[in-house]
Amino acid sequence: MPSRRSSSSTHRSLLSLLLLSAGAALAQTPPNFSPSSSERLLATFDQNTTDPFFFVLGGVFERNSTQSAPQIYLPANRTTLGPPTNSTLPATYLILMVDPDAPSPQNTSRSEILHWMQPGARLSRSTETQTANDTAISMLSAADTGTAAVVPYQGPAPPSEAPHRYIVMVFRQPEGSDNFTLPADYEARQGGQNRTLFNATDFVQKANLGDPVAATYFLVGSMTQGNGTDTYNGTGAAAGIGNSSLGNGNATNSTGGGGGGSSGGEGGTTPSGTAPTDSGSGAERREKLGLGALIGALAGALWLIG
Ligand SMILES: *[C@@H]1O[C@H](CO)[C@@H](O)[C@H](O)[C@H]1NC(C)=O
Ligand SMILES: *[C@@H]1O[C@H](CO)[C@@H](O)[C@H](O)[C@H]1NC(C)=O
Ligand SMILES: *[C@@H]1O[C@H](CO)[C@@H](O)[C@H](O)[C@H]1NC(C)=O
Ligand SMILES: *[C@@H]1O[C@H](CO)[C@@H](O)[C@H](O)[C@H]1NC(C)=O
Ligand SMILES: *[C@@H]1O[C@H](CO)[C@@H](O)[C@H](O)[C@H]1NC(C)=O
Ligand SMILES: *[C@@H]1O[C@H](CO)[C@@H](O)[C@H](O)[C@H]1NC(C)=O
Ligand SMILES: *[C@@H]1O[C@H](CO)[C@@H](O)[C@H](O)[C@H]1NC(C)=O
Ligand SMILES: *[C@@H]1O[C@H](CO)[C@@H](O)[C@H](O)[C@H]1NC(C)=O
Ligand SMILES: *[C@@H]1O[C@H](CO)[C@@H](O)[C@H](O)[C@H]1NC(C)=O
Ligand SMILES: *[C@@H]1O[C@H](CO)[C@@H](O)[C@H](O)[C@H]1NC(C)=O
Ligand SMILES: *[C@@H]1O[C@H](CO)[C@@H](O)[C@H](O)[C@H]1NC(C)=O
Ligand SMILES: *[C@@H]1O[C@H](CO)[C@@H](O)[C@H](O)[C@H]1NC(C)=O
Repeated sequence: MPSRRSSSSTHRSLLSLLLLSAGAALAQTPPNFSPSSSERLLATFDQNTTDPFFFVLGGVFERNSTQSAPQIYLPANRTTLGPPTNSTLPATYLILMVDPDAPSPQNTSRSEILHWMQPGARLSRSTETQTANDTAISMLSAADTGTAAVVPYQGPAPPSEAPHRYIVMVFRQPEGSDNFTLPADYEARQGGQNRTLFNATDFVQKANLGDPVAATYFLVGSMTQGNGTDTYNGTGAAAGIGNSSLGNGNATNSTGGGGGGSSGGEGGTTPSGTAPTDSGSGAERREKLGLGALIGALAGALWLIG
């Protein structure tokens, strides 16, 4: 019992920090990524618990623990988060998750990968829980509307050791359109038949969704370890993440995370101070893709890109 209470209070103080940082109006999507939101989306892979652990912004995970869709929460009382409503209906949201780093942060030729598109989500009263501040939070779920995913969740499958960013965004569906209609240009995305070369900015414009009302992101590489408690301090990630060699990356390192398997990896074959090139790391990349393909085959996937 005492250990349960201490674990719980740890989670709660972390959540307070998350809420505080959300209040500071910092972008909750990664540097250089658009669209963005200053509202933190609380998300967890710690499924079906009454006291979930919400991963930190940019938290590093091992791939295994991210293969079921994260459960995401918004403040329970803010049913009108986003544009004001003149309706008595509860607000309806669309959840979108993309990977802009496929097949690797150095080579984004297949990006973005569309990992998840779930319209018809609402704040669910039955999943309300409390934070340290007695703020009620509530899980976003499409159960109430019985809306199927347009593109079902597919967990991360990054072929590169360098971690990919997985960005989860929540949009308010336009007033009166509880039944989300895919823009014509995106019909071929239905069911996840084609997840590559997605463009979140373009999709959001064509679907008339406006800015995300909340967002978050996490990191997974082919060898990363972690449970979302730590940010990334390794190399090879996209600009602004960890000790990035790309662009002007200069995020705070924080502690731990993600370094697993990196000894003799990216650091050894990446020319320091310059962006890695295909010629410089081609053999390594093929080897990683080979390993990735094996993992993908085990997972029953036909391809492995993001
Ligand atoms: C707690 O609630 C107060 C009053 O509503 C608010 O000003 C404050 O920002 C909240 N703190 C956190 C951590 O959410
Ligand atoms: C969480 O609950 C849902 C619905 O009951 C279930 O389908 C899912 O497998 C559960 N997830 C875990 C990790 O237990
Ligand atoms: C990861 O998944 C593999 C394959 O399903 C499993 O054998 C392994 O035990 C899992 N590892 C963890 C830490 O859950
Ligand atoms: C938030 O929701 C809870 C539960 O529905 C309710 O008891 C509480 O009064 C609400 N708080 C505010 C500030 O609306
Ligand atoms: C809600 O507001 C929109 C835009 O102002 C308007 O087009 C719509 O008719 C209104 N709906 C209702 C039910 O009043
Ligand atoms: C949404 O779809 C459901 C089921 O197909 C239907 O009953 C409902 O009338 C539709 N709502 C709108 C606003 O089109
Ligand atoms: C997937 O969609 C993109 C963007 O429309 C397109 O360029 C690409 O050819 C499509 N891929 C497949 C396999 O259809
Ligand atoms: C994505 O779409 C936006 C809006 O249409 C466009 O400005 C941008 O160039 C596109 N990005 C890519 C990589 O095609
Ligand atoms: C995450 O992993 C660390 C290190 O293995 C462990 O100390 C911590 O309790 C874990 N946290 C959660 C929320 O599982
Ligand atoms: C990183 O941040 C430090 C301290 O703010 C600054 O001195 C340094 O020039 C920055 N490096 C890059 C590459 O932006
Ligand atoms: C971030 O990592 C760099 C390189 O290892 C180190 O010099 C710097 O002190 C770290 N910054 C923080 C805030 O830990
Ligand atoms: C990065 O994280 C690892 C694992 O937690 C730690 O051993 C190492 O000291 C960290 N490096 C920096 C520069 O913070």
